[in-house]
Amino acid sequence: MKLKQCVFAVLACLTVSVLADDKPYTVVDGYKVDAKTMEGFRTWRAAACDRCHGANQEGLVGPSLINSLKTLSQDEFVKTVTEGRLPKGMPSFGESQQVKEHINDLYAYLKGRSDGAITRAKVEPAK
Ligand code: HEC
Repeated sequence: MKLKQCVFAVLACLTVSVLADDKPYTVVDGYKVDAKTMEGFRTWRAAACDRCHGANQEGLVGPSLINSLKTLSQDEFVKTVTEGRLPKGMPSFGESQQVKEHINDLYAYLKGRSDGAITRAKVEPAK
């Protein structure tokens, strides 16, 4: 391979690996997560989203968030949780200090669950 082609191939690889690494969470062994994702889980617990979306996020009276987050964008997620969809039974969490503060952490945790990377609902801090 000529040097120019070689350099180009290396750059292409680096670009791909950077693009692939855009996940908002990190997880080891399916349940040991980074500090922010851990805050997301604590927020999920504190806000008791499981009452309607199920302890494993697979849906109850509310839809499965495992499915929803495969297509819902982060912006749509933030809007839905902050404003709610009151006529449809999804409450607004705009008044919750914890949810407001950790909305992106909450998204990270649920996205990890939806991606199948976080393999159980109860996570623990990575050492
Ligand atoms: C009182 C029951 C209830 C609680 C508590 C609740 N939800 Fe919901 N949620 C719903 C219902 C019902 C819907 C479906 C609304 C609709 O049909 O558009 C929904 C929809 C959603 C959606 C949009 C799903 C989609 O596919 O468009 C997200 C995201 C969501 N909830 C996240 C949360 C989070 C995060 C919490 C906790 C902070 C929470 N919900 C707490 C009932 C609830």
